[in-house]
Amino acid sequence: MASKKIIVTIDGFSSCGKSTLAKQLARELNYVFIDSGAMYRAITLYFLRNHINWEKQAEVIDALQSITLHFAYNPTTGNSDIHLNDEDVEPLIRDMLVSENVSAVAAIKEVREFAVAQQQKMGEQKGIVMDGRDIGTTVFPHAELKIFVTADPTIRVERRFKELYDKNPQITIEEVRTNLEMRDYIDSNREVSPLRKADDALILDNSNLTREQQLRKALHWVAERTQL
Ligand code: DC
Repeated sequence: MASKKIIVTIDGFSSCGKSTLAKQLARELNYVFIDSGAMYRAITLYFLRNHINWEKQAEVIDALQSITLHFAYNPTTGNSDIHLNDEDVEPLIRDMLVSENVSAVAAIKEVREFAVAQQQKMGEQKGIVMDGRDIGTTVFPHAELKIFVTADPTIRVERRFKELYDKNPQITIEEVRTNLEMRDYIDSNREVSPLRKADDALILDNSNLTREQQLRKALHWVAERTQL
């Protein structure tokens, strides 16, 4: 059956499995996958490294002029890595220090304008799956398929803990819970593009779904929108 290329947006709280679903879908559909959170994380890394005081608007505007971001395929992992000024920073951006500061950085109007403009450009040719917080509401308000992923908060903390524990066995479940709660709060309550479900987004609660089951569900929604 013939099919047309569409834009798929995947939004939701932290550690709901958005990136897992987005990657699976992109692979299956042969679409580009963009992890928009990685862009905010890379900007945060730049600000931390260069001691930018992000409460000062002029410093932020100036710093953004020195930042270029792009995604490049990593043949070892099969994923698309975020590059900050041509350095592959993918291994650095999930660190706790970045995680603790990224929501504050992502709440800054100028930072969002900088990232959103690039994200919209990436979607010009369609055939893209992008995950984040405001993709269905602000970045691609006319996307053909919008998915809002949710999962039980206890399950989200456990998933994130397992992910981080492999890299840092010192981490505690309490630290992970506090960080997730803090990020959810800031992401949902900021002034510019807060996290919220787009009115026309479909809810996917994956608390009790396997990866395969959630993929099947999403593929079914894609098929409904792409068959000509
Ligand atoms: O998806 P993530 O946890 O890697 O995202 C990191 C942070 O970036 C998260 O706290 C919220 C922010 N973010 C955002 O504000 N808008 C997006 N489109 C993606 C992420």
